[in-house]
Amino acid sequence: MGKGKFYITTPIYYPSADLHIGHAYTTTVADVLARWHRFEGDDVLFLTGSDEHGQKIQRAAEEKGTSPQQYVDEIVAGFKELWQRLNITYDDFVRTTQPRHQKVVQDVFRKLYEKGDIYKGHYEGWYCTPCETFWVESRLEDKNCPDCGRPVELVKEESYFFKLSRYADRLLAHIEANPEFIQPESRRNEMVSFIKSGLEDLAVSRTTFSWGVPVPQDEKHVVYVWVDALPNYLTGAGYLSDLEKFAKFWPADLHLVGKEIMRFHTIIWPIILMALELPLPKTVFGHGWLLFDQEKMSKSKGNVVDPHALIDEFGSDALRYFLMREISFGQDGNFSRRALMERINSDLANDLGNLLHRTLSMLERYRDGVIPEPGVQTELDGEVVQLFEETVANFREQLNSYQLNTAVATLWRFVGRMNKYVDETEPWTLAKAPEKRERLDTVLYNFFEAQRLICLLIQPIMPETAAKMWQQLGIEEPLSEQTSEALTWGLLPAGVTTQKGDPLFPRLDLDAEFGKPDGKPQKAPAKKSKDQGKEQETGVNLVDISHFGQLELKVAEVLQAEPVKKADKLLKLQIDLGGETRQIVAGIAQHYRPEELVGKKIVVVANLKPAKIRGEVSQGMLLAASTEDQLSLVTVEKDLPAGARVK
Ligand code: ME8
Ligand code: MG
Repeated sequence: MGKGKFYITTPIYYPSADLHIGHAYTTTVADVLARWHRFEGDDVLFLTGSDEHGQKIQRAAEEKGTSPQQYVDEIVAGFKELWQRLNITYDDFVRTTQPRHQKVVQDVFRKLYEKGDIYKGHYEGWYCTPCETFWVESRLEDKNCPDCGRPVELVKEESYFFKLSRYADRLLAHIEANPEFIQPESRRNEMVSFIKSGLEDLAVSRTTFSWGVPVPQDEKHVVYVWVDALPNYLTGAGYLSDLEKFAKFWPADLHLVGKEIMRFHTIIWPIILMALELPLPKTVFGHGWLLFDQEKMSKSKGNVVDPHALIDEFGSDALRYFLMREISFGQDGNFSRRALMERINSDLANDLGNLLHRTLSMLERYRDGVIPEPGVQTELDGEVVQLFEETVANFREQLNSYQLNTAVATLWRFVGRMNKYVDETEPWTLAKAPEKRERLDTVLYNFFEAQRLICLLIQPIMPETAAKMWQQLGIEEPLSEQTSEALTWGLLPAGVTTQKGDPLFPRLDLDAEFGKPDGKPQKAPAKKSKDQGKEQETGVNLVDISHFGQLELKVAEVLQAEPVKKADKLLKLQIDLGGETRQIVAGIAQHYRPEELVGKKIVVVANLKPAKIRGEVSQGMLLAASTEDQLSLVTVEKDLPAGARVK
């Protein structure tokens, strides 16, 4: 069914230190897109790698007292391990020290030289080693690198130069004619003014160190590390080694990079390609930075967040989801552990996980876990189907135009709609009426059909979670064989036996780490004022905060309510505690009719020892206020999700 091809790349990262979540961000986004295109039936080439040459690496190795090759080998092994833990499905990994790549670099250099675009001269100017960038004096800011703010070094050496300015007009015309070439638009404008301010010829070789690809025919020069690095995108596509592959995949559909290396990708790289007479990439997208305390996370600042620790603690899917959902793609975004944990609880444990868990519980209870044949669809069902169709169309459109966080939000709106649909259709009420049997079949079918579709759509974002969901749904055909043609409502076969498992995401205890939700730290008991002292003397029963803290009060949603036989004061409730269904028995039958209660959000003591009341197990106690003749359930003032802590 192959529809086309999709060639996507990440930057090849410097193995000057271990990777942090900034790098994980770019690579995760690329993986989501690669997986999405495979699902759509495209032939995908997804490339990543490592940028192993240059002064920066040579110095780092010297400092460690090892050879550059040994130094990078060790760090690159760590790159690959991280990508494996994040489930990154790259097709090829280019290391610039590989012979196949050195051959490409030398070929590129030779072609440009033979064309007369490269000439020999002498460079005298400034160099930023952390950025591996040449700077003319006029562009420095306070004598520092205008990109990273760090000190630059004076460099005087023989060098080859590349005549960038020759191609400036052609490049401007290309940018003008192809609005999708540089994205987002703000970066396009920046790049255009940079080109218009005049391009100097670029030094493309170095002679003062040796860790690089030798310039053909002039071996005391090594190729400038960026001219070594950028052609990795040719190497990985089969340039010089697999012409058929190259013809198929070139040009790249998307070079995904951070905004700080846009100039290399949208000025130097396209000019090299023009000189080689090769077509330019369709799009270079420069995303924003992950910030930590509002500063760019970077190896040299040492303010980096280690992705391994986050994967250990929260799992790779949660991290992937967070990166996709939380950061407005294209803009800078702050990383915070708290925001990550909040997303896990609200979007993953509650919205997604709870939908699956509670619907599987109902299916077990009402239909022995087997998906029934649906009956007639009502108007309400039609609304859900229609929203699903809009969701797919928008999700696809948004992913294809790189509005990634918006695409995830679109999908989650549908997840939210399904949770609401469960409440609206009240399966617990239908289950009590034999004449509603067909209706119950239909709504149960719809719950799982929607979740089959949700599972297919979350798969590129959260592959491990999708696999778990698929298994619980019990569908026989492997998830890995599904394509986007399966995104049609109604394909879920009836008769499938589901396999209810553990909740997808256990809820995290944010309060334990961050204190109470109002953000106020828990105060040490203040000195007793005189008034408080008096209060104590009057015999009011004061308890310590720690006693109160032993009670686990939670918001619960009533799923089902029914009378208890031969007990006219009791009602038996099935409640949802956020990922967990429980039964409680409460003495409220004279104040509430069962059907009034379904859907209400109440407050329960969740850690009360279970008790048997009139032969019925009660796992918790609800809170109610009462007078002689009145009783009112305690509810929460805003619509908080089941499972929310009350304190
Ligand atoms: O520039 N936020 O390698 P590099 C978001 N070797 N993304 C970040 C980030 C952050 N705080 N920090 C890093 C190089 N990145 C060259 C590339 S390509 C031919 C050569 C990501 O190790 C982002 O994609 O400095 C950024 O562009 C890249 O890592 C830089 O990685
Ligand atoms: Mg960098």
